[in-house]
Amino acid sequence: MMDTKIFIEKFYEKYGNRNDKPVLFFSPGRVNLIGEHTDYNGGFVFPCALNYGTYLLIRKIKTNTLKFSTINFNDDTETEIKGLFINSSKRWINYPLGVINEFIKKGIKLSGLEFLYYGDVPNGAGLSSSASIEMVTAVALNELFHAAFDTLELVKMSQKAENEFVGMNCGIMDQFAVGFGKKDHAIFLNCDTLFYENVPIVLTDCSLIITNTNKRRGLTDSKYNERRSECDKAVELLQLYRPIRNLSELNLGEINILEKYIKDPVIRKRAKHVITENGRVVEAVRVLKDNNILRFGELMNQSHDSLKYDYEVTGIELDTLVYEGRKLPGVIGTRMTGAGFGGCTISIIKKAESAKFMTTLSAAYQKKTGLVPDFYQPEISNGAGRIEL
Ligand code: GLA
Repeated sequence: MMDTKIFIEKFYEKYGNRNDKPVLFFSPGRVNLIGEHTDYNGGFVFPCALNYGTYLLIRKIKTNTLKFSTINFNDDTETEIKGLFINSSKRWINYPLGVINEFIKKGIKLSGLEFLYYGDVPNGAGLSSSASIEMVTAVALNELFHAAFDTLELVKMSQKAENEFVGMNCGIMDQFAVGFGKKDHAIFLNCDTLFYENVPIVLTDCSLIITNTNKRRGLTDSKYNERRSECDKAVELLQLYRPIRNLSELNLGEINILEKYIKDPVIRKRAKHVITENGRVVEAVRVLKDNNILRFGELMNQSHDSLKYDYEVTGIELDTLVYEGRKLPGVIGTRMTGAGFGGCTISIIKKAESAKFMTTLSAAYQKKTGLVPDFYQPEISNGAGRIEL
């Protein structure tokens, strides 16, 4: 995090009026430990909030103008509040605009505002920088305009902003994780019922390491939406087996029926991933509660393999990090996290081997892909909220 005093100074440099203090909010990014591409299939996920995220200094003004600025790049924008909004050509502005739109749709009367954002979670790296911007905006508006929506409502409004305004058809995991995160806990969430449990993450002599492939964001959104329709297709075909609303209604014991009802091998593999991944999440949470980190790591490895072979959302960069990583001493488990195709891996590594893991893996990855990876050793933090100045 940047020093708070410097951040506030930048706010005054931009917007002036030092007599009127802005308010500070923070929303984390998230990393998913296991349970990938299950959320929009009504399944289980197990993410946690990070100590990296988005900071927002915000202040009400008397006019009807919304002024957006960010420390991360030079891209100031101003717009007038006039009913509902249309998308901006600047992609990042659509996250706050989409959320503001949701507040207006719910009848909350807004005044003009000055926003200054600062994010230290890498963009487009599968660590939910977008959900983080959405939720920091949502908690700020909720407080400044006394809207009194509860966290779940803010989570749903942020997801809606992303689905309908930004045009990314994401599930609920990211917004939920950054809204409900709890320090040193992961969230075991049933994405169908939204029932959840905070599970302590105690890794004793191991720690979490996130590795960014630094692959440039490519076709992730369109591939993501393609996977969603493949799952819809599987659900449609399985109606002849029994009426289901989503793939997560099938359990591991029913894997064998897929062959009979889904003739297309690609659609069948997609369904298989979702069903087996749900099974892995349930087991992973159980073994973690028993302090069986080794088994947890094995399940992480199996999750990656399934995402590579059955769901086909990995790619050379993620696979190199994972399969080269697995050869190294002290690696308990390693897998891609988030939507895939690029972005990050999450690994559990023996603390004593962490430094060696990072240098050796970095060299192997550069040799194979020509890209330089970044490493993060995150702490697990609380969800979005106000920071007292
Ligand atoms: C992205 C989406 C989430 C989820 C993951 C894959 O992060 O935003 O809703 O589907 O991909 O698990």
